[in-house]
Amino acid sequence: MKTQPTLLGHVGAVSGAKISVRQSPAVSSGISIIGGKSYKIGQVGSFVRIPQGYHDLYGLVSEAGANATPETLLGSTSGDSERWITVQLVGEVMGTSFERGISQYPNVNDEVHLVTESDLAAIYGVEEQGQVVVGRLASADGIPVKLDLDKLVTRHSAVLGSTGSGKSTTVASLLRSIASGVEGSDAGFPSSRILLLDIHGEYSHALSDVAKVFRINAEGTESHLHLPYWALDPTELLGFIMGRLDDKPLTAILDKIYAYKLRQAEAIPRAGLNVGSMTSDTPVPFSLKTLWFELLEPEIKTWANKEKTNPAILESGNAETLTPPKYSPHGAGTSLPMMNQIGLLGIRKPLDQLRSRLLDKRYDFLLHPGEWEPDLDGNVSKDLDDLLGEWLGHDKSITILDLSGVPSVVLQQLIGAILRILYEALFWGRGRSEGGIARPLLVVMEEAHRYLSKESTGPSRTMVQRIVKEGRKFGVGAMIVSQRPSEVDETILSQCGTFVAMRQTNSSDRSKVQASLPDNLAGIVDSLPVLRTGEAIITGEAARLPVRCRISLPPEGYRPNSEDPEVAKAWASERRTENYERLAAAWRAQNSQWAANRITRTPINEEQNIAMEREPVTSSNVISVGYDAALETLEVEFQNGIYQYYNVPQPIHDEMMAADSIGKFMHAYIKPSYPCAKV
Ligand SMILES: Nc1ncnc2c1ncn2[C@@H]1O[C@H](COP(=O)(O)OP(=O)(O)OP(=O)(O)O)[C@@H](O)[C@H]1O
Ligand SMILES: [Mg+2]
Repeated sequence: MKTQPTLLGHVGAVSGAKISVRQSPAVSSGISIIGGKSYKIGQVGSFVRIPQGYHDLYGLVSEAGANATPETLLGSTSGDSERWITVQLVGEVMGTSFERGISQYPNVNDEVHLVTESDLAAIYGVEEQGQVVVGRLASADGIPVKLDLDKLVTRHSAVLGSTGSGKSTTVASLLRSIASGVEGSDAGFPSSRILLLDIHGEYSHALSDVAKVFRINAEGTESHLHLPYWALDPTELLGFIMGRLDDKPLTAILDKIYAYKLRQAEAIPRAGLNVGSMTSDTPVPFSLKTLWFELLEPEIKTWANKEKTNPAILESGNAETLTPPKYSPHGAGTSLPMMNQIGLLGIRKPLDQLRSRLLDKRYDFLLHPGEWEPDLDGNVSKDLDDLLGEWLGHDKSITILDLSGVPSVVLQQLIGAILRILYEALFWGRGRSEGGIARPLLVVMEEAHRYLSKESTGPSRTMVQRIVKEGRKFGVGAMIVSQRPSEVDETILSQCGTFVAMRQTNSSDRSKVQASLPDNLAGIVDSLPVLRTGEAIITGEAARLPVRCRISLPPEGYRPNSEDPEVAKAWASERRTENYERLAAAWRAQNSQWAANRITRTPINEEQNIAMEREPVTSSNVISVGYDAALETLEVEFQNGIYQYYNVPQPIHDEMMAADSIGKFMHAYIKPSYPCAKV
């Protein structure tokens, strides 16, 4: 007679953490009903419990059926008639506290039980400080999955999965739950400090209420992203702004930079800066314009006399405007004017590249960093402390550095520089209350394969390696997010203590994930290709148990800007007139919001106003609409006033009048696209 409904079978063989379980004949139906809920028996990835008197061992089913039958029994009659499952032991529960690892192995013939919702609730349900909810168990909706925040941050973590598997959504959901708590539960962590490197600009919208956003083309409440070039490693900076340099000119230029920095440090003493132990690497401002100007001089100079005392100068240049000086061209052979030989480095081309970089608008955030841009003598109005304060010292939990406008050639350098500034500051300031130990920092790196690849020689990889190796001691944690784990540097992945593995279809990526996972979970990893979107296997230090979890989807409006386009719906809608000028303009401006920026909002006066007849319409916020085809002007009366939109083509107006919702049409096609004025 079956007395225990949860009994699954008995231990048949034990070899290390892997045990073979003989299923009892009573549960051969495959389904057991306990407390009104049905449980599938022997599902790969489900939990089993092996009671051991005072404590319970917990294991995961990794194999079932023929493969699980112990080899010695294969072919024998009893082996054929019995059903077996293989279980990987993962930890034990004493009272309600779960510990990974086991202190004692089970014995042959010990009972093996199904794990019910109430067992899991006992493990997950314990209210403890420092836990953050990420989702719910895939097998039991009612049980929240929590992560241990201490371990998550200090032991680093990785969120891995194919494109579209839900990584960004997971990150947004997790960060929101850290910053503001989950609806109806704990209140979050008000002093949490998280920096998100947002490569595609997906998050600013999703986390707008809990984050401060820095962006190159900042709009509205966003702040401008500035990264002073003088805080970068000068060798790397030169590599980017001047191209490859030979040893001799490189050394000469570094010496020059050192001299500038020294002069600046002596002129304006900075707290903590010891002039005696400075190097060219010390983050002290210097002017690139001055550097360019002074390096160019010897390259183009000519002399009017044989003694080389009178320069044959025609026009003196201007460092501020990057105008080179003009000299008379040198004569042939020994005739005058003579070419200059003193201080010549033969770097005309690299200098031209430097000048064009300085003039290139796309690099303004780095080479002309607002108030951090030094004048020709290297004086700045804002220094590094202001930068750190802006990035880390605001009242929000999350800082988003939106790097979507950054040209990809500098991405590596840039991220390396950002991490270096943050890490060095938190490292050296570790004893202070703003430092990493008193207020740890979590750095989330999206699309990590782009700048942390095995091949990359850039500074970002070295910096992240440093963070994952020693950041724990100084309160800096890393979260690596990538769709190509096989391309991410191995040292970095192997240092991650917690893994959120989402659907992974590519087999080389999958084996990489498997190899990096901290727990021994052969069976559960095989389910990686069949995970649903938004489902993850969470294992490692921060998870109580390795689990398959359904990540909670953030509420509408708080999801990352990466939703899949609805192809069929978009293609099924009626064609409208298109204007590709806007696309080209947005591209040239390197700003996806270009058209919206152009809108003028100065009210126009009575005389300029074109008197127009408006037709009343039925819409919740639009009262009436008028249109002048000759002037291509559209006039709309809203609840809060009348606006005119200019250059609106006739077909657009006609379509608007025919639209299901005039308000929605206005919002989607008119407001972001045409210049307007309040009447
Ligand atoms: N937990 C979830 N529940 C339901 N749908 C989800 C969930 N997570 C993500 N999705 C949906 O999956 C799609 C892709 O999500 P997301 O942008 O997070 O993927 P990703 O892994 O970051 O992709 P990529 O590698 O291309 O950046 C989105 O349309 C999103 O709404
Ligand atoms: Mg993503």
